[in-house]
Amino acid sequence: MIDLRMKGPTVRLGVIGLGGRGRDHARRLAAMPDVKIVAICDNWQPHLDKAFADLWTGPHAIYPKQRAPKGTLRYEEVLARKDLDAICVFTSWETHMRIAMDAMLAGFPVCMEIGAGQSLEECYELCRTSERTGMPVMPLENCCYDRRELALLNMVKQGVFGELVHCQGGYEHDLRDEVGNGDRSHHYRQPHFLLRNGELYPTHEMGPIAKYLGINRGNRILTLSAMASKARGLHAWLEKNRPDLAGRAVNEADVVTSMLKCANGETILLTHDCSLPRPYSRGGRVQGTNGLWQEDGNLIYLEGRTKIDKNDWMHSFEPAEPYLKAYAHPLWTAYEEMERRLVVGGHGGMDWLVERAWIESVQTGTEPPLDCYDAATWMSITVLSEQSIAMGGAPQAMPDYTRGSWMTRGPSKCIETWTLDAIPASAEKPARKRAAKK
Ligand SMILES: NC(=O)c1ccc[n+]([C@@H]2O[C@H](COP(=O)([O-])OP(=O)(O)OC[C@H]3O[C@@H](n4cnc5c(N)ncnc54)[C@H](O)[C@@H]3O)[C@@H](O)[C@H]2O)c1
Repeated sequence: MIDLRMKGPTVRLGVIGLGGRGRDHARRLAAMPDVKIVAICDNWQPHLDKAFADLWTGPHAIYPKQRAPKGTLRYEEVLARKDLDAICVFTSWETHMRIAMDAMLAGFPVCMEIGAGQSLEECYELCRTSERTGMPVMPLENCCYDRRELALLNMVKQGVFGELVHCQGGYEHDLRDEVGNGDRSHHYRQPHFLLRNGELYPTHEMGPIAKYLGINRGNRILTLSAMASKARGLHAWLEKNRPDLAGRAVNEADVVTSMLKCANGETILLTHDCSLPRPYSRGGRVQGTNGLWQEDGNLIYLEGRTKIDKNDWMHSFEPAEPYLKAYAHPLWTAYEEMERRLVVGGHGGMDWLVERAWIESVQTGTEPPLDCYDAATWMSITVLSEQSIAMGGAPQAMPDYTRGSWMTRGPSKCIETWTLDAIPASAEKPARKRAAKK
């Protein structure tokens, strides 16, 4: 039975990086009865002040009656403290890894928000630092714990799609306003869009796909080739909305497409599409020898199961929702059935789940379900795509951060509840059990 009651020993946290995302995590973590935020840091005073209000001094403070600790602008001061059990890094793309490594060197297990990697060297260093210090670092890729992705994982592990052949995913999100006004809101993304040209945000789709395909656990990514479209969307937006920036060149293409090849033969297609008008999508597709699921339209086709329309057999998809319900992951079912009084929402529940997966790994001293090799591989995609685009789409080799152990590494030794490498064997299905009793 999956037990999501929060009843472990108290974890004392230092939280570094308190922009929009960091404060969101901090509020949720602080509301957990077995977590206490003890130290906070942001190198920009207004964000530090906002976090203070959220946690200690504001009208909706999570710890209203407690004495506020001293916040700091220097993360080194947090890492020097002796009264912490673990560190959260919620800073910007270019600072995550450096701070996470310093935290591991200071003897702390770490969780870290992720995004674009900066260099392969840094990705190697993250893995070597984790190996040498024995301190785990968990990338907080929340989409791995989303309802839909968990149901698809369940279907993949149960062989519903047959043998997987191809997966697709994307970060297809109109970010023109956020990026275009990033200099005013002190947001990290703007310089990346002005100066880089690559797959800048691969992890939301790559995390779940990596788990479907067993990347770094019996499979690995071999190569990546990327192509970039022209860059017009953000420039047009700046001309209209930010004439002061309209003279700036924009390097990031409107649509970046990356094709990855895996050691076991599968292909993965990733799309980054963030500067044209469009509704949000993660552009998913999971395809195997029995059929496929696709996100746009939320459709499925399974040979032998999907009823074929004789008048239109070429388009005989069916709605995927009944399958997502029938194959609901036991973790998600347990989440839906738990008492929500103490759960501060976030992206429908996946934020809380990914945070709990990490907190419980700290409480028990066990491996987190996602690790340094996951973070390094996913974040390298940005760097490799930039190199490939600069070289006209030339294939780039993905480093083997596991140094060959991908061939023999089994499922993570994390707490079974949180595993993304298998379906928890001990998971009862409470809803189904109750239905059976009736
Ligand atoms: N998983 C999700 O759904 C999701 C959603 C939003 C953001 N994110 C990720 O979260 C991260 C942060 O995003 P955000 O929107 O909060 O950005 P942000 O720019 O609002 O916040 C980043 C914060 O880090 C601080 N910072 C930067 N360098 C620092 C340093 N050296 N020391 C201390 N503080 C430092 C900045 O001052 C800022 O307050 C990014 O990696 C982003 O990709 C994930």
